[in-house]
Amino acid sequence: MVSDKMAKLVAGSSIIRAMFQDGKIMAEKYGKENVYDFSLGNPSIVPPPTVKEAIADLALNSPEMELHGYMSNEGYDDVRQTVAEYINKTYGTDYSAKNIIMTVGAAGGLNVALKSLINPGDEVLLVAPYFGEYDNYIANFDGVKVVISPDYERFSINFEELEKKITPKTRFMIINSPNNPTGAVYSEEDIIRLAEILDRKQKEYGISIFLFSDEPYREIAFNGIEVPYITKYYSNAIVGYSYSKSLSLPGERIGYLVVPTELDDFEDTIVAMSVATRIMGFVNAPSLMQKVVARCIGQTSDLKVYEENKEILYKALTEYGYECVEPGGTFYMFPKCPIPDDKEFCAKAKDFRLVIVPGSGFSCPGYFRIAFCVDKSTVVNSLDSFKKLIDFYK
Ligand SMILES: Cc1ncc(COP(=O)(O)O)c(C=O)c1O
Repeated sequence: MVSDKMAKLVAGSSIIRAMFQDGKIMAEKYGKENVYDFSLGNPSIVPPPTVKEAIADLALNSPEMELHGYMSNEGYDDVRQTVAEYINKTYGTDYSAKNIIMTVGAAGGLNVALKSLINPGDEVLLVAPYFGEYDNYIANFDGVKVVISPDYERFSINFEELEKKITPKTRFMIINSPNNPTGAVYSEEDIIRLAEILDRKQKEYGISIFLFSDEPYREIAFNGIEVPYITKYYSNAIVGYSYSKSLSLPGERIGYLVVPTELDDFEDTIVAMSVATRIMGFVNAPSLMQKVVARCIGQTSDLKVYEENKEILYKALTEYGYECVEPGGTFYMFPKCPIPDDKEFCAKAKDFRLVIVPGSGFSCPGYFRIAFCVDKSTVVNSLDSFKKLIDFYK
């Protein structure tokens, strides 16, 4: 018998995975090319060639005992220094290896941060709509999630509600920009306002509120839109980065945390995060991949296809009558359903061979997510189905 806690988590398990399974069944039935599967955020473009070259060179020419051995839980020193210098050069910060912890992707990093910083019963603020796995990560450490309802106009932050929902028990807040599922990118003005509120509330209650910026989509920002670097605006900020999307390496499980020296109790926090990496069973981030990302620092896959897909989909869907906030980045779009019941709508979409995910899975019912990390031809061929689907409700 599985544990009570796990049984609960399984029961609430990801709606996205369920849709992905449906997509696979449909592909078997109708043929892959006749199903438009927009369910999963799996990158559709290959990593840059340097990734393959780095893997081959490292595998063939590095001393094996060094490449495959245990290391410090926080990762190789030289890799962490390379990451720190890249961040400094790109965002004008002042970090060194001591501020970087290599992680098992963004998911690993967020779990390490939560384990290190929250006590059971501490409140964790989430901004709806949000990546549904956050619920599970918070439950892992018996935190209490507090959800800020959506800002439907821009999918930024509902600041009035945020102010009201911060309490003396607030310990942690997760933001994600560019955002899954909406594609929204928070402006500098948004970040300044957020930092001002958190700073004021920290002083008012005499507490530390850690702001975790979950950034797997940092480089997927359209029309040269700026994604502010959060640690420059708020001293208790932590950045969780991942190479899953920028280098198209989600299966390799590699990313890092940036923990600024200004963070409250910095020295203890860094030690806690290092130990958390070990005792959660990761031990350290994958050794070969640490070396690979250091060699490929600053590079990305050829991300422009995502912007092209966004242009095609956004133009067509709004023409057909879908209401949608235009994504500023990522490979997601989050239109409003023409009927209140998003689950019913996504079930109906299957009649038109469309696999899309109900907004309820992101704590935002009445909407649906399209993950357009697919070939351009899939996007173009799907348009007729999107039109027929909305016309069905007219
Ligand atoms: C917002 C967000 N955070 C975290 C993750 C997990 O990323 P990783 O594969 O780096 O663990 C994802 C993956 O889709 C995501 O969309």
